[in-house]
Amino acid sequence: MKTDAASGLAQKVQTKLSGHGQPMTIVVEPSVEAVAAHVHDALVEHLQRTPRTVLGLPTGGTPIPVYARLVESYRAGRCSFKHATTFNLDEYIGLGAEHPASYAAYMRENLFDHVDCSVGQYHILDGLAEDVEAECAAYENAMAASGGLELVLLGIGQNAHIGFNEPGSDFHARTRAVDLAPSTVAANARYFREGQQPPTKALSMGIGTILEARRIIVMATGSSKAKAVRRMMTEAPSRDVPASALQFATDVTIVLDPAAAAEL
Ligand code: PGA
Repeated sequence: MKTDAASGLAQKVQTKLSGHGQPMTIVVEPSVEAVAAHVHDALVEHLQRTPRTVLGLPTGGTPIPVYARLVESYRAGRCSFKHATTFNLDEYIGLGAEHPASYAAYMRENLFDHVDCSVGQYHILDGLAEDVEAECAAYENAMAASGGLELVLLGIGQNAHIGFNEPGSDFHARTRAVDLAPSTVAANARYFREGQQPPTKALSMGIGTILEARRIIVMATGSSKAKAVRRMMTEAPSRDVPASALQFATDVTIVLDPAAAAEL
C-alpha cells in the first residue's frame, strides 16, 4: 500500500484485480469514515441519476455510517428515495419485524424512519413467515416484478459470507432459508441482550440472486475483514469462499479501509 509521506495516511488507491473471473475495481480509502463517504457518494449519485432504482441493502455494523450520511443528505435535499424500491439481503428466522434485533428494526432505525422510503417501497423478508418457501418465492417475484436489482450494497463476513450465504452456499442459489455458521452467530451475538439466544437460521437472498444485480458495491473495514477480502479477490472462486462468486459479477467495486486491504 502506498502511503502519503506528508500526512502518513494511506492514499486512495484505485486498481483492478482480475482474480480468476471478471476484473474487480478496488478503492482503498484512508479511513472508515472515508469508506462511508465514498459509498454514500456513489449511492447519492445513483439515486440522483436513476430515481426509480431498485436497491439491495445490507445490515450489520459496516453500513451504519453510510446510512447516517444518507439521512443527512436526504435532510439537506441532496437525495430522495421517493421513487426507489429496496430489498434487504436477509432477515433472521424467528424474529418478527418489531423485535429490536431484527433487520427490519435495524433498517427503520438507521434509514427508513428518517427518509422518504415508506412501507410498500421497501421489502424485508418476514422472519416469522409460516411458509418459508412461499415467502422466499414471493420475494424473488417482487424483485423480478420491480425490474430486478440494479445496485446491491454488500458487507462481507469474516468467513467471506455475503448476505447470509455462508461457506458451502451454491453460487446459483436463490432466496431461501439458511443455517448460520457458528462464527456468524458468535459475531452477531453482540446485538442480542444477555440471556437472549441469537438465531441460528435466517432467510437470505441467494448468491445467484445477488449476481444478477447490474452493479455491486462491497464495503469492508477493519483488520478482521482482511483475510476475507483477500480470499474474495484472489482465490479461485469456490463455495468455501462465498464472496469469491463476485468474481463472476459484471460490475463490482470494493471499497476498503487500509486495515481491510492489508493482505492484498
Ligand atoms: P458487519 O457484518 O458489517 O457487522 O461486519 C458484515 C456481514 O456479516 O456481512
